[in-house]
Amino acid sequence: MPKYKQIFENNKKWVEEMNASDNDFFKKLNEGQDPDYLYIGCSDSRVSTEQLMGVKPGEVFVHRNIANVVSNIDLNTMSVINYSVKFLKVKHVIVCGHYNCGGVKAAMQPQDLGILNPWLRNIRDVYRLHKAELNSITDEQERYNRLVELNVEEQCVNIIKTAVVQKHYLQTGYPIVHGWVWDISTGLLKDLNFDFENKLKEIREVYDLGHGQ
Ligand code: CO
Repeated sequence: MPKYKQIFENNKKWVEEMNASDNDFFKKLNEGQDPDYLYIGCSDSRVSTEQLMGVKPGEVFVHRNIANVVSNIDLNTMSVINYSVKFLKVKHVIVCGHYNCGGVKAAMQPQDLGILNPWLRNIRDVYRLHKAELNSITDEQERYNRLVELNVEEQCVNIIKTAVVQKHYLQTGYPIVHGWVWDISTGLLKDLNFDFENKLKEIREVYDLGHGQ
């Protein structure tokens, strides 16, 4: 049997298990979604969103790309944020990076990576913003880990710059933006305790889009 066909066997087994624990599981799932969370993470195959969060299908709206980047001109990410905040009314938006992220590592290499260049530029910009702190870290692995964390924080800031997040927060008190890092070596999540309220105030001094329409 070709390896990929095993997936269909796995799927049948999973359906049986889910039905055994709740016979109406798929019926309820079919009725619609009402997730509390939007998760923006890395595409890395080792990072399994629902498993590391311990949640079931229907509980988290997910967007993944290389190195969990939130780019203002990426129609995909911006659509996900707008839809989930405006229509699904998610209460929490999470940016979750991970240590040993290949995308972040690639951005630290001095080389032309073709079509990846404009994407990784977002992470190089994070490095430039925090150059003094990062350059003061002599251990390369530690500097890399810190860039993973700073990248998460800067992507949280990019989320706060959007009109939809500013408006919904001012009107309803939600969503709250969080920055996390997942440690592949232990499986544990680390909360970077991103200071959402103060960052929002700071950001709105320049990027205030909370008015109009
Ligand atoms: Co990654």
